[in-house]
Amino acid sequence: MITNWLPPDLLAEKVVFVTGGGSGINLGIAKSFARVGANVAICGRTPERLESAKLEIEENGAQVVTAVADVRDFDALSVAFEKTRKELGDIDCLVCGAAGNFLSPAEALSPNGFKSVVDIDLVGSFNACRGSFEQLKKQAGNIIFISAGQSFTPYIGQAHAGAAKAGVDNLMKNLALEWGHYGIRSNSIAPGPIEGTEGMKRLAPGAVGERLKATIPLGRFGQPEEIGYAAVFLASPLAAYITGTRLVVDGGQNLGGSAIFSQAILRSSSGSDSR
Ligand code: COA
Repeated sequence: MITNWLPPDLLAEKVVFVTGGGSGINLGIAKSFARVGANVAICGRTPERLESAKLEIEENGAQVVTAVADVRDFDALSVAFEKTRKELGDIDCLVCGAAGNFLSPAEALSPNGFKSVVDIDLVGSFNACRGSFEQLKKQAGNIIFISAGQSFTPYIGQAHAGAAKAGVDNLMKNLALEWGHYGIRSNSIAPGPIEGTEGMKRLAPGAVGERLKATIPLGRFGQPEEIGYAAVFLASPLAAYITGTRLVVDGGQNLGGSAIFSQAILRSSSGSDSR
């Protein structure tokens, strides 16, 4: 098991804040940080989800702080960051993970639908960076954005997510440029299809997922913790000279472009998937 060779003290005493840390990939990230000695704060919109995630992260050895905050609400995030500082200390690593997504052709998408995804993914990421900036500056900390293949490859039904994630990657590079002289590093991870997540349920349900899996060079979906290990690497001294970079962790899925996914979506929406 990979957990056997994780250095348990790699990030001892470090404080990691994960937005959207109550479930899915972000919870996997939070647990991976706990396994290498970090303490963890998570925020999200649903108190019950945060409480059950807290128990899971604690089982991996971390002290955990939870805060109910929507990343679109800068004031709520500021309260969450202050609570984290008081209970765990200044934040060393911010993971901008909160995201919203669904499949919708652009021609059927309302302006508010487009805006909601951009607000959560992009504006929410900026809010988190801006709100934790003073703490990150004090710690010469680092930021990890969660990007996606949609950032660099167009996908059917994903105009909103593509625009948001391309913005996220650009913000990542701008902050690397502007905040590097404070010792703050800024990078992103673009996860591929990760098993059991809300994103997979929404984007690649049933037969679409099976078709997609068959096209992945490594032949399987990823696990949330596998994104977590990439995040641990980027946050650790092993990546001390890495900033302004996007790390694609997708089993090679995006190497072939999005055509197969797009065909599967089109077949599924035209009803020809029942064959
Ligand atoms: N297709 C098209 N439009 C959709 C949609 C769908 N499947 N789901 C929501 N929308 C539209 C709504 O119709 C609304 O637009 P309108 O006011 O013009 O009708 C707009 O998006 C906002 O929807 P609402 O449900 O009010 O927003 P919210 O802020 O509560 O939720 C979402 C944000 C829409 C992103 C929601 O899907 C969400 O909360 N997602 C979080 C979890 C998630 O997506 N996880 C996967 C991440 S990869």
